[in-house]
Amino acid sequence: MSEPPPPVSGRRITLCVTGSIAAYKAAALLRLLRKAGASVEVVLSRAALEFVGPATFQGLNGKPPLSDLFDRAHGGELHVELARNSDALVIAPASADCLSRLAAGRADDLIAAIALSAHCPVLVAPAMHPNMWSHPATQRNVSTLTADGVRFAGPVDGEVASGERGLGRMAEPEQIALAISGLFSGGALSGQRLVITAGPTLEALDPVRSLTNRSSGKLGFALAERARSRGAEVTLIAGPVALPTPPGVRRVDVESALSLKQALWEALGADLSRADALIMAAAVADYRPRAASESKLKRSGPLTLELEPNPDLLAEVGARRTGARPVLVGFALETDSDERLIASAREKLTKKRVDLVVANHAAESIGRDDIRLTLVGPDTAAPFGPAPKAQAAERLLDWLSERLAE
Ligand code: CTP
Repeated sequence: MSEPPPPVSGRRITLCVTGSIAAYKAAALLRLLRKAGASVEVVLSRAALEFVGPATFQGLNGKPPLSDLFDRAHGGELHVELARNSDALVIAPASADCLSRLAAGRADDLIAAIALSAHCPVLVAPAMHPNMWSHPATQRNVSTLTADGVRFAGPVDGEVASGERGLGRMAEPEQIALAISGLFSGGALSGQRLVITAGPTLEALDPVRSLTNRSSGKLGFALAERARSRGAEVTLIAGPVALPTPPGVRRVDVESALSLKQALWEALGADLSRADALIMAAAVADYRPRAASESKLKRSGPLTLELEPNPDLLAEVGARRTGARPVLVGFALETDSDERLIASAREKLTKKRVDLVVANHAAESIGRDDIRLTLVGPDTAAPFGPAPKAQAAERLLDWLSERLAE
């Protein structure tokens, strides 16, 4: 059987580039889209032209980029035509100024006017100095745009043009291309209410010490970001991790398994009516110290810790559920062989009464950017990867959107 065509093949994509040093990466994105079979119109803002030249884009795309709202070479209304003839509008990089103009509904340059006329999905890949990204004005604009249905890819944490580090760096072209194909993959989650838990829990021994685990939260955060970008309303319940909140996602920070339990039931509602799906990616500690000391424990010879089991949160939700909603997804992390891993995932599936268990090996997931996993259902075991966690998140959300459509 031949592979299905990649979702961007044959799609008409308008790629808008605004004023940021990351504009040079838009050329790589253009190449990826062309290679995947998309037909692309490139629009460069006036500020983008300060950073990159039209010749690069013309060379890669076989036709000159556009930039003028009043382009004499085109009769009619260029912005309306471009919007009408686009299957997706992608703005990469999107500067702080661009986000502000889109949020305000401006139409005084070609890119803003196309965005205002577009009925197709709009995806933006912000790029700016971390101070500009975290400024309340930008965050207000991001909220407005997410409420308007604009999808976000990034920004990511890393080094920015000034050499400083922080959240504001544009997502890599491969990641943006992935987000673009997500727009067409049919895996829409519009209006679906997702609760996602992520990261480790931390069980206090005393005011300064705790028991925890090595979960990085990266997969759970990638799931939240990709689900939001597919149009879901996402509540992300996060254990103690220093990852940035994906745009448009409601985040609740927790520490212990018991505080996670409380946040979880608040998000789901006692009758589970507030969510369409729960993805339990958090690595919940199975045990907590029987009593946390109120003052710092002093060193005095051997110390025996007494632990008591935490409730199994997912199993409690599974036991409470009576119908098909919310769809429940659990995780199984083991250090055993593949065979043993699948068998134990299936045991968890039955014991916790969930719909899917994502099985993975500790060595192939913890602290890594890549992951290899198997989606284990009652009668199926679909392997995936190794692949970047964002791609694994897309795979899991494809499964979820199919299940929610049933
Ligand atoms: N989980 C949970 N509450 C707990 C422990 C785990 O909700 N107290 C959830 C995790 O979020 C994950 C799945 O259950 O989705 C993982 O279960 P795991 O800890 O591997 O399984 P256990 O039931 O603890 O089985 P075992 O101890 O045999 O590995």
